[in-house]
Amino acid sequence: MKKKRDRVPLVQVQGLKTYFYKGRGILSKAFGKGLRIVHAVDDVSFTIEEGKNFSLVGETGCGKSTVGRNILRLVEPTDGKILFEGQSLLEFSKSEMQKFRRKAQIVMQDSLSSLNPRMTAGEIIAEPLRIHGMKKYEEEIQDEVARFLEKVRLSSEDADKYPHEFSGGQARRIGIARALVLRPQFIVADELTSGLDVSVAAAILDLMQDLQDEYKLTYFWISHDLHMVKYISDSIAIMYLGKIIEIGKAQVISEDPLHPYSQALFSAIPTVKPGRETKKIILVGEIPSPIHPPSGCRFNTRCPRKLGTICETDEPPRQDASDGHLISCHIPLEELRKV
Ligand SMILES: Nc1ncnc2c1ncn2[C@@H]1O[C@H](COP(=O)(O)OP(=O)(O)O)[C@@H](O)[C@H]1O
Ligand SMILES: [Mg+2]
Repeated sequence: MKKKRDRVPLVQVQGLKTYFYKGRGILSKAFGKGLRIVHAVDDVSFTIEEGKNFSLVGETGCGKSTVGRNILRLVEPTDGKILFEGQSLLEFSKSEMQKFRRKAQIVMQDSLSSLNPRMTAGEIIAEPLRIHGMKKYEEEIQDEVARFLEKVRLSSEDADKYPHEFSGGQARRIGIARALVLRPQFIVADELTSGLDVSVAAAILDLMQDLQDEYKLTYFWISHDLHMVKYISDSIAIMYLGKIIEIGKAQVISEDPLHPYSQALFSAIPTVKPGRETKKIILVGEIPSPIHPPSGCRFNTRCPRKLGTICETDEPPRQDASDGHLISCHIPLEELRKV
């Protein structure tokens, strides 16, 4: 067995950029006229250790899902590197990609709309097994379907039901079962519990945790719900307009966020840390468009602690607060720590 310190992280993302090119027809394609570039992901780097919970948080539209889809190669990045088990994912051959497709799965919020309404739950769960030729005999496939329905705490009799017959929480369980049948190592959970009642969401998180223990899964959580993220994560990265502005261990980030944006986000949720008064920081203005992101620090147009023109002109330096806790900000660490 490999020693712990020799172990490569399961996922390494380095300098990832994903731009979407939006144009108006042929002119923009041929001459770049009217072409607009959406800077969805703009130089993002992080590492996910095997068996851990890594969370990417931020407001809607900041690029979280794009990063998740990049790691699964559902969307090709414009630039940067993604290593899976130390291997360069973007250079995988066809057969390596086929293997990777089994190892990495996604489960999503809009499970009901992503489940084919004309297929039964059983057919939906069996489909990946058939596509990947994982089981030879029909009987084996049906056994797997029944087994995974039970794993996600539904009943094997649910196999004959159609998606519309399930509640939102149950539909998400079917999505989870479908992802699990391929025995993946890595799961991207994109807003998995969004829109669910608190108790239903808690049951899904509980299920995900049990499955993680049983199958040694690594989770990449994408969420705008800091309250949830605080409890399930080992590491948290906070994203704003295509960039990670703060990253570190979950406890450090949630109890002592240093970036003004993170402080504003966390000030909006209740804290349990005794003696720490949280004053609610209200951010003014709307999140700017990723088509014309602000120059310098992207947060400068809304930052309550803006220093001056440097924030508008220069890219903020990445400051190391301790043990992998990184903050991208012009304000010196000593000053950031004072609040
Ligand atoms: N396929 C696409 N084509 C063009 N723009 C896209 C595409 N996917 C996402 N975007 C844009 O990229 C930005 C980031 O989107 P997304 O990654 O979905 O953010 P989040 O998941 O944080 O809400 C948004 O402005 C979104 O409109
Ligand atoms: Mg999203």
